[in-house]
Amino acid sequence: MEFSTGNMSCANYATTVVQYDNTSKVNLTPMEYTAKQFNLPEVKGLSKAQLQLHLGLYEGYVKHVNHLMSQMQSLAKHGDEYTYSITELRRRLGFEWNGMHLHELYFEALTGGRKDLGATTGLYKALTSQYGGFTHWLEIYKKVSARGPGWALLNYDPEAKHFFHTWVADHEVGQLATLPCIIALDHWEHAFMVDYKPAEKGEYVEAYLHALNWETISDRFDKVA
Ligand SMILES: [Fe+2]
Repeated sequence: MEFSTGNMSCANYATTVVQYDNTSKVNLTPMEYTAKQFNLPEVKGLSKAQLQLHLGLYEGYVKHVNHLMSQMQSLAKHGDEYTYSITELRRRLGFEWNGMHLHELYFEALTGGRKDLGATTGLYKALTSQYGGFTHWLEIYKKVSARGPGWALLNYDPEAKHFFHTWVADHEVGQLATLPCIIALDHWEHAFMVDYKPAEKGEYVEAYLHALNWETISDRFDKVA
């Protein structure tokens, strides 16, 4: 029995769907990511040993992103046999993927050495407009923290012209979809425990923020604002 839907019957519609399902045209080859190299300067308050350990951990995230994507591709070749396994691997991708990119934002902001944020930049003006002053915003941002491993992000919504402070647990829980990240401050203990005790995290936050290259960060803002 055929059910008419205007000029196209359901039987014809089903045939059309099958014709579009041409798996020979699907490219399943995943991109392979390469760990970026960061030429880090001397950072007051963060030792070379601390930064080297952290860079090595970042490279691990890149490796695991590639590994996950390769594994999913290999299993997909077996049709539906490993659907459950692929689903579980996909569940892990957000953790590894965000771990990779958040660390890139973190280290990129240190390269080139400390540079102040100019008072004429769009970022300075926007932060001042929303928070009543750059220094006032900075004091608020320093306190964006929660128990457990995660990140304190400064996000910006270009549509609403509004900043958000986001606490992201692990690397992926609490991310605000579509919002560009202007600053990513790593609050995982691996980021500071070579140099500081857990109770001294505030000193690490001060050291990282003091070392920022605000020209780099300002450029990030200009690209999305
Ligand atoms: Fe980290």
